[in-house]
Amino acid sequence: MSDIRNIVILTGAGISAESGLRTFRAEDGLWEDHPVEEVATPEGFARNPDLVQRFYDERRAGILAAHPNAAHEALGRLDAEWSGELLIVTQNIDDLHERGGARRVLHMHGEGLSVWCQSCDARHRWTGTLRDSPSCPACGEVAMRPDIVWFGEMPYRMPEIFAAIARADMFVSIGTSGAVYPAAGFVQEANLAGARTLELNLEESLGSRNFDETRLGEASELVPAWIEEVLG
Ligand code: APR
Repeated sequence: MSDIRNIVILTGAGISAESGLRTFRAEDGLWEDHPVEEVATPEGFARNPDLVQRFYDERRAGILAAHPNAAHEALGRLDAEWSGELLIVTQNIDDLHERGGARRVLHMHGEGLSVWCQSCDARHRWTGTLRDSPSCPACGEVAMRPDIVWFGEMPYRMPEIFAAIARADMFVSIGTSGAVYPAAGFVQEANLAGARTLELNLEESLGSRNFDETRLGEASELVPAWIEEVLG
């Protein structure tokens, strides 16, 4: 590990599964009992805003009730102790990385505890509900939506992510199925950059063959063990 300075880590729903937050691609193909196009697209929101606001109100309450697990905490330790570059890119909308102590975190699919005003473009930290149509604290309009990147929308801060991958010596993917682009393509970018690539996941994913190494198991065991290897 002595040749490694710059690390990029991609996390997905699997890292929060042991904190009680459900992953997306269960066998029934539903997200918390809804088809994704109903609750995770701009068209779904336009068709039935009340349903979508209620859906994310529930997700927000679920995030607030969850606790970081050993995998989040181990990444918090890595962030505190790693003197090289580190970027934890998460597809998750929960704040369990931050509560696990990590600081160098980028939420490419938005954040469940953030809301976005469609009238004045302000974002606000939000722990309450939106189904009761609160007005924006900045402009007073009733125009706030969840600050979530839906299917068909552009993930956040992509240039920053690709720049970090281009500099990476090591790329690690944790708890993601590799089903959703652009995140699913990061491993190929990392391979092009000459980084070592490691996957930590419960089961083989769609992208497993693109990694130098895949370790199968629960994130709460695999992640602390890997971080112990890195920090020695
Ligand atoms: N430890 C490690 N991996 C786990 C665990 C666990 N305890 N539990 C589940 N997994 C793995 C599953 O085997 C699966 O491969 O985590 C992966 C979760 O995959 P998805 O449910 O598809 O979640 P994710 O890859 O994060 O989804 C990507 O899809 O719907 C969109 O925007 C949403 O960010 C999300 C994106």
